Amino acid sequence: MSEKKPFYITTPIYYPSAKLHIGNTYTTVAADAIARFKRLQGYDVFFLTGSDEHGQKIQRIAEKEGVTPKQYVDKIVAGIKDLWKMMNISYDKFIRTTDDYHVETVQKIFKQLYDQGDIYKGSYEGWYCTPCESFWTETQLQDGKCPDCGRPVEKTKEEAYFFKMSKYADKLIKYIEDHPHFIQPESRKNEMLNNFLRPGLQDLCISRTSFNWGIPVTFDEKHVIYVWIDALSNYITALGYGGSNDEDFKKYWPCDVHLVGKDIIRFHTIYWPIMLMALGLELPKQVFGHGWLLVDGGKMSKSKGNVVDPVLLVNHFGTDPVRYYLLHEIPFGADGLFNNEIFIKKINSDLANDLGNLVSRTVAMIEKYFDGVIQAPTAKEELDNELIDLAIGLPGKLDADIKDLKIPEALDHIWDVIKRANKYIDETTPWVLAKDASKKERLGTVLYNLVESLRIVSVVLSAFLPDTSEKINAQLNVEASSWESIASFDGTRAGTKVNKGEVIFPRIDVDKAIDELNKLKEEQMKKAAGAEAPKAKPIKPEVTIEDFEKLDFRIVKVLECEPVKKSNKLLKLKVDLGGEERQVVSGISKFYKPEELIGKSVILVANLKPVKLRGELSQGMILCASDDADSKLFAATIEGELPTGSIVR
Ligand code: ME8
Ligand code: MG
Repeated sequence: MSEKKPFYITTPIYYPSAKLHIGNTYTTVAADAIARFKRLQGYDVFFLTGSDEHGQKIQRIAEKEGVTPKQYVDKIVAGIKDLWKMMNISYDKFIRTTDDYHVETVQKIFKQLYDQGDIYKGSYEGWYCTPCESFWTETQLQDGKCPDCGRPVEKTKEEAYFFKMSKYADKLIKYIEDHPHFIQPESRKNEMLNNFLRPGLQDLCISRTSFNWGIPVTFDEKHVIYVWIDALSNYITALGYGGSNDEDFKKYWPCDVHLVGKDIIRFHTIYWPIMLMALGLELPKQVFGHGWLLVDGGKMSKSKGNVVDPVLLVNHFGTDPVRYYLLHEIPFGADGLFNNEIFIKKINSDLANDLGNLVSRTVAMIEKYFDGVIQAPTAKEELDNELIDLAIGLPGKLDADIKDLKIPEALDHIWDVIKRANKYIDETTPWVLAKDASKKERLGTVLYNLVESLRIVSVVLSAFLPDTSEKINAQLNVEASSWESIASFDGTRAGTKVNKGEVIFPRIDVDKAIDELNKLKEEQMKKAAGAEAPKAKPIKPEVTIEDFEKLDFRIVKVLECEPVKKSNKLLKLKVDLGGEERQVVSGISKFYKPEELIGKSVILVANLKPVKLRGELSQGMILCASDDADSKLFAATIEGELPTGSIVR
């Protein structure tokens, strides 16, 4: 039996509606750092992330791409998992809302809430866009029009189920007041109380009938469960709640922290707690709402085309520089900026100069003066205490920082030790000590102190920059890497041989790197635009309306159709042109069987000079459209019914 204390942390589950950008990556990297830190401290951590796969938007995109919604989300989710691998995310479970166990439990939850009277059937008033078949709320409209297609919308009603939110509002207000750490940061708590809870809660619409890519309501199959009940439940279904094995639920619930962006804090601090109250479950200990990652003033968004692609950054600079920027440069809880120039300058100053240099100087000096062997610290001096005290004090400071989710501050505290160690080299001047044979022991002690400081730094860095921590450990050849081993300043074993390795963070030429980044981004945008809109063939030279009017297009009905003998391309058609019959030969047998055309109304170019094809007379030409590769072809038709012989213009 383990006596480890459980610690449960979650990220939001992401919509697989497009590739994730650096803003989404931010939440997950922050959650990962906290999870790793708690594991290091000996907690039994459960770190959950996943994907939120249902809804009209996903259904639409899949339709546009000509695949099923499941095929579409499978592809995107695979990409999300690759991204997390690339970012070194140590999640314990990845939940997909299309997973069977999740679907079943959500259905049970919905039924239970309905049976106990918390859910009722009513109607949902909104604005309907007929061509798009979609409902919009007043606030979603753009200039009173459909935000998707810009066409006019009509006011309509749709039957829907509602959750009686107001019933639990007073209880929730009291809970929030009694638990000052429940909503963090503080400013968000006041916003929730003053803007939403105290003015009175509206009931929440939780089902839809206008699309079907969702979890069906078991007792009313034309309804699917609308996003929030489905999505929020993931935090408990992932632990086996409502299923056959709920051991994890018993162990990890209530959650220690839900980490979310500020746009969804309302759902996590109002709707989610009310759902849990209705189910008779404990509320999460904390919901932490972080701010936006902005790019030069604005919020990153796909439509603005200003998204920063984490894959591009990682491929170019490595995982840990990106993790470092996200964890250190964005004030946790507030908005922060992603800027290429600051990013690259930070790699140079903090990672290459401060940390990388400290490692390479320390290892190089041990090689040079002691053949790579770490000496015992037998000649300590008063001067050493400041560095030693700072290093030993680090675990306590970090423990407090992470309890408050102050990640940038935690990294500041680590860098205090790194900077102090660099200063210690300047103060002790090992290269001067090396010239005096009587100072050999002192020199060995100075280098020991540097290695031991770096070891402590490396142990705690494993939470934030795991690859870097491993690289440092490999160069120092340290064995002790537990949380307990950094409580005192003696974890490095004298006699250990260091391994000089590659420079951990090579310095970057700022201007060159920015140019390269801009170029890469341009290429990527070109590629994306190219993939979305295949280039059309150039348009032919202009003609006048008089030129156009020389052509005579008519509606004709296909009466008979058969293949032309000894041709595998041509079909011979007999068509009715308003009393007159014509024979037309058309090269479309790869795309139509004769019986598919009989009875169809198509468009004929009726005054084209007749020709003979394979000995058969062709009096005109049927209009068809085909793709570039000629892999698909369709005869042009008209939308309604008209008498044969009608003019097309
Ligand atoms: O909201 N900076 O999913 P999502 C920082 N499926 N964070 C950002 C950001 C930015 N520029 N843009 C987005 C959903 N985010 C729901 C969640 S949870 C039960 C259901 C954050 O893919 C955003 O705030 O739209 C949210 O926390 C997360 O990315 C996922 O957003
Ligand atoms: Mg969103």
